[in-house]
Amino acid sequence: MNQFPHDFIWGSATSAYQIEGAHDKDGKGPSIWDAFCTIPNRIKNGDNGNVAIDHYSKYKEDIALMKSQGFKAYRFSIAWPRVMPDGKGEVNEKGIQFYSDLIDELLANDITPWVTLYHWDLPLALQTEEDGWLNDSIADRFEVYADLCFSRFGDRVKNWITLNEPWVVSILGYGQGAFAPGRKSNSEPYLAAHNLLRSHARAVKVYREKYAHQNGAIGITNNCDWREPLTDKPEDKEAAERAMLFFLGWFADPVYKGDYPAVMRERLGERLPQFSEEDREMVLGSSDFFGLNHYTTMYAANTDAGDVENDIAGNGGISDDQDVSLSQDKSWQLTAMDWAVVPWGCRKLLEWISARYDQPSIYITENGFACDDKEVNGAVDDSNTRLSYYKGYLTACKEAIDNGVDLKGYFAWSMFDNFEWALGYGSRFGLNWVDYETLERIPKASAIWFSQVIEKNSLDS
Ligand code: GAL
Repeated sequence: MNQFPHDFIWGSATSAYQIEGAHDKDGKGPSIWDAFCTIPNRIKNGDNGNVAIDHYSKYKEDIALMKSQGFKAYRFSIAWPRVMPDGKGEVNEKGIQFYSDLIDELLANDITPWVTLYHWDLPLALQTEEDGWLNDSIADRFEVYADLCFSRFGDRVKNWITLNEPWVVSILGYGQGAFAPGRKSNSEPYLAAHNLLRSHARAVKVYREKYAHQNGAIGITNNCDWREPLTDKPEDKEAAERAMLFFLGWFADPVYKGDYPAVMRERLGERLPQFSEEDREMVLGSSDFFGLNHYTTMYAANTDAGDVENDIAGNGGISDDQDVSLSQDKSWQLTAMDWAVVPWGCRKLLEWISARYDQPSIYITENGFACDDKEVNGAVDDSNTRLSYYKGYLTACKEAIDNGVDLKGYFAWSMFDNFEWALGYGSRFGLNWVDYETLERIPKASAIWFSQVIEKNSLDS
């Protein structure tokens, strides 16, 4: 750590639904994840975030733990339905109070809050009544919600992240159906992504116009693996680059260059929405920093049209759009989520971002290793797993900095044990526990579908 710049930010990260619990306490409204977890066979072992680690009640203890570990920054998310139970209209003052107290407690312990506005727990009402991220009007809703957060917390919060991983929301939520709201489609991901970007930009606009006096910074966090060409053949090199553009360029090009990558336009035709002139201008330049969640690397090779297996680990249900096949090297160590440990992929990714987007300030807002921890006498020996992962990845970060990358901070995922979405709380996950191909498709009239589900599986259960 001493080899890093003296003002480098060292932090850890979490998200609301994964740790808070208190899913219906003090006026919180339901989110799409509350509902999704009630659907049979969607979450491993039928787990849910109803209680999680009960951070809602125990946040002071949790912050004391953070302090004892020497963390100076903490990235958490606000649950939209906790502060606005229906996603619009009425504000839940008790929810506001919770986050306000959390922020005060962090500051009292000399820990800087980094706040994400959206880490996937959309208010259920916006899904059932308005079709969530598929509806243009979500940008109006998100702007109002963001404005509320800036006005109530912006006096103390100076680091904002609008969205966490819009790729995951789009691909797993609207492409594969593995995550809430469970839609399966090869066009909806592109529409959802478009509205996510528009919503992000609207929040940034209101922050810059109304809250400039708060002197904070605002950006978006995207996730990306590294894609290494499987061979030196030009077509595999091109395939790896294409995979990067479909993964990260999809969300970062509009922000840094003003439009989606050309290769996406060529391949997707009308499935890729067009930005109106107004939206293009609003999205361009809408991030003060480059937020990056990074975990793993895969080899990428060119395939012939239509050849690609629908693999959850990589491309999602829209693999055919890319004609890239992904693989891992058998010698690579795997995490409990079957993600390969490849530190040099982290360095290459940072350098790719730096080159493509003209050296933005980058913060790694998530990076970490899921372990099948074995507790012996109250302790876990993770020297060859988590610890060596952090050493490897931080060494790669340092090399990237030495090579000119403006990396300014690093947040470990995760501060606490937490609910790992569709994988629940298991310590040994494996990604393919369910055959996503056979999952029932959630119909467009999600209002009807969700209300049936809620009736059948009470949210309290
Ligand atoms: C990220 C996500 C986190 C967590 C992590 C893996 O995609 O933002 O919430 O699930 O992966 O543990």
